[in-house]
Parts: sequence; C-alpha cells; structure tokens
Amino acid sequence: MNVLVTAGPTREAIDPIRFLSNRSTGKMGFAVAASAAERGHTVRLIAGPVALAAPDRVERFDVVSAEEMCCAVEQQVDWCDVLVMTAAVADWRPIDVKDRKLKKEAMPGTLQLERTRDILTTIRPLKGDRIVVGFAAETEELVLRARRKLEEKGLDLIVANDASQADAAFEADTNRVVILGADGSEEPLPLLLKCDVALRLVVRVERLLCST
Ligand code: CTP
Repeated sequence: MNVLVTAGPTREAIDPIRFLSNRSTGKMGFAVAASAAERGHTVRLIAGPVALAAPDRVERFDVVSAEEMCCAVEQQVDWCDVLVMTAAVADWRPIDVKDRKLKKEAMPGTLQLERTRDILTTIRPLKGDRIVVGFAAETEELVLRARRKLEEKGLDLIVANDASQADAAFEADTNRVVILGADGSEEPLPLLLKCDVALRLVVRVERLLCST
C-alpha cells in the first residue's frame, strides 16, 4: 500500500528569528514511516522541522509551517491508500509576520493570532476509500476527547496519546496509547517503545484495509 505520514511540529514565524511551535520531536511519525517501509509498503513522509534522519526507503518532504504542511498533504493525498497524521500541527499563527527582526522596544505586549487550516478537515472531501488515521495528545479526558476528534474529523482510527506523563507522547522514546476505531473499538496498549506502537498501528491499518 502507499502510505503518507506526517510528523513533527510546525513553526509559525513571528519574524525571521522567532517562531511559535511545540514540543513534538517527530519520533512517533518517523517510527510509523520506518515500520511501514520495513513491512514492504511505499512510504512518503512529510516532516516539520525535526533533528531526525529519514528512515531507509522512505521519501521525505520537508516543510516548516502548518500552511506548507497542509498544501503538501493536499498535493499528495490522491497518491496514498493510507494517511497517518502524527504531526503536531500548530493551531494558531501570528497574523502580522515581520520581515525584519522585531526589536524588543517595538515588541507589542500581545501577539495577534489567527487559526491555521485543519489539515484533516481540509482533505476530508478527498478521503474516498482511504484509511485516515489521526493522533490526539491529551492531558485529560483522553479517550473522550480523542473519540470526539475521530468523529469530528471523519477518521477511521485515532491514536490517543497520554501527554500527562514524562514517559509518553512528546520527546519520550516510549508511548502509552489507546487506539480508537470508527467502529467503536478501543484498544489500550501498554507502555511500549514508539517503534513497537508504530508496528502495532501499521498491522492494524493493514487489517483494516484488507477488510474494506
Ligand atoms: N491536525 C490537523 N490540522 C491541524 C491541527 C491538527 O490535521 N491544524 C491533526 C493532527 O495531526 C492530529 C489530529 O488533527 O492527527 C488531532 O490533533 P490535536 O492537536 O490533538 O487536536 P486539535 O484538532 O488541534 O485540537 P486541540 O488542539 O484543541 O486539542
């Protein structure tokens, strides 16, 4: 199958020096891409700014902002059978991006922000028979909030990450997740290395694709 994966954070510029971003390192998404490639699938990886090397046999596309990531996904979604959105896409960006460094004396007390496009919502009309998988990092009401996102974004699966502890979600090499299905299923996994979470997810997607 053709698998399109997004990974890492996005950066939303304030000026040429400063940006808004988040703690995502891309480890989970790169692990999904590596796992899918190891199982013989053709994999493209759209990566935000991360300090990781592309896994073997994975074609990588680098982007910076949420808008660039959204355009890249829109361009490539037709190609894929499966889209896995692990990226921690910024929800907000500064309205007025300065083209020169903002001096501290000129820095306003508040930043005016606007919403970025939601990528999963944007590509929803193009979904067709594709399997679309989202990730949800939550610090409270994990399963409830993740299921709401699965429904609102029209996903087949969502991987709910417990981001309230140091050994899971952002920056860690391990993750503690619950995989929720559009069929109402709920599969809690124990604390696992991200590569093992990725393998479980890829196998689950393979089974789903065979059954459709
Ligand atoms: N996502 C997206 N486009 C965005 C923001 C998020 O496609 N602009 C995707 C993420 O890649 C992830 C899923 O939506 O697969 C859930 O992301 P998350 O950040 O957990 O949720 P949000 O919808 O951004 O809601 P909130 O930040 O309020 O929890």
